[in-house]
Amino acid sequence: MKAAIINQFGNPDVFEIKNTEKPIIKSDQVLIKVKAVSLNPIDWKQRKGNHKYILGSPFPIILGYDLSGEVEEVGTEISKFKKGDLAFGVLDNKYGGALAEFAVGHEKCFSLKPKDLSYEEAAAVPMVSLTSLQAFRDIVNLQAGQTVLVNGASGGVGHVAIQIAKMMGAKVIAVASSKSKEFIEQFKPDSFIDYAETDVLKMDKKVDVFFDVVGNYTFPKTKHLLNSEGIYLNLNYLNSLTKLPVNKFHELFTKKKAKSFLMKQNSADLKIIADWISEGKLKINIDKTFQLEQISEAHEYSQKGHNKGKNIVVINNSNN
Ligand SMILES: NC(=O)c1ccc[n+]([C@@H]2O[C@H](COP(=O)([O-])OP(=O)(O)OC[C@H]3O[C@@H](n4cnc5c(N)ncnc54)[C@H](OP(=O)(O)O)[C@@H]3O)[C@@H](O)[C@H]2O)c1
Repeated sequence: MKAAIINQFGNPDVFEIKNTEKPIIKSDQVLIKVKAVSLNPIDWKQRKGNHKYILGSPFPIILGYDLSGEVEEVGTEISKFKKGDLAFGVLDNKYGGALAEFAVGHEKCFSLKPKDLSYEEAAAVPMVSLTSLQAFRDIVNLQAGQTVLVNGASGGVGHVAIQIAKMMGAKVIAVASSKSKEFIEQFKPDSFIDYAETDVLKMDKKVDVFFDVVGNYTFPKTKHLLNSEGIYLNLNYLNSLTKLPVNKFHELFTKKKAKSFLMKQNSADLKIIADWISEGKLKINIDKTFQLEQISEAHEYSQKGHNKGKNIVVINNSNN
């Protein structure tokens, strides 16, 4: 099968498009014929080797987590999917493996693709939507009437987080650059802060949740902006682990909390998200679309970190 492979960590030009072995599924796995993939910052962080001390260097590596496609084969223990189903999801292997004609994952990684979404649109959905849903529902227990600040509001996670927070009845303060203001306004945040013009740390409002998607603030720095039981949630998981001792100290004499988490593969959550999209309650924006052969260019663009929504890599152009 054709795949974008890396044989070393490094710059976006480390990719090679090569033929490699089609993956073999285990009894509890599903093989997907991949149609489209969306990029997430974890992809370029892994390409650079940022996770090599945890995940090792098992070259050749195929990166990529978010995908859509057609079920090609199912293991003997699989009951929810059959060959020919159209699916979307987020892979659960070390380093993913989506940037290829075929990719493999456990059943929990996938759900049926909403019929009204193209493969490109469906591939854009999983990681950013699961992250926003699980962050607000499971980690901060967001309640109607509460105020959430979304820092990094125009990116993949941010633009979805605004919509899910609004659906849950929260008030949203969106933080991004002035270039993203018009894009963000379609998702109806209650207010907007241009981070280049206004120092967020000096704002005169308090929030119940400081959702630090970009991860360029800290709990000690934002504590004064939190309501009495407010939560600072940092999405940069590895970075926030290093801050644990400091955060614990700052939690000592207050009910305010610092949290971090990692998104989890979950078919039931993907189904909730698919239903929201089909009902017109949630919209995922595609910024740029690339072909597999343009993967270096796609990573370079994604790594700049100023996309509006998601970037897509098309693996197989045939529609269904
Ligand atoms: N823990 C988890 O499970 C999990 C899951 C998904 C993602 N993440 C992490 O979450 C982060 C964001 O992911 P993403 O997919 O949303 O990335 P993204 O699409 O690349 O987000 C980029 C956005 O960040 C905004 N931005 C850049 N610099 C900023 C600044 N100084 N202040 C405020 N906003 C700024 C940009 O807005 P402008 O263009 O207007 O500057 C842009 O829209 C990444 O670090 C990713 O690894 C973690």
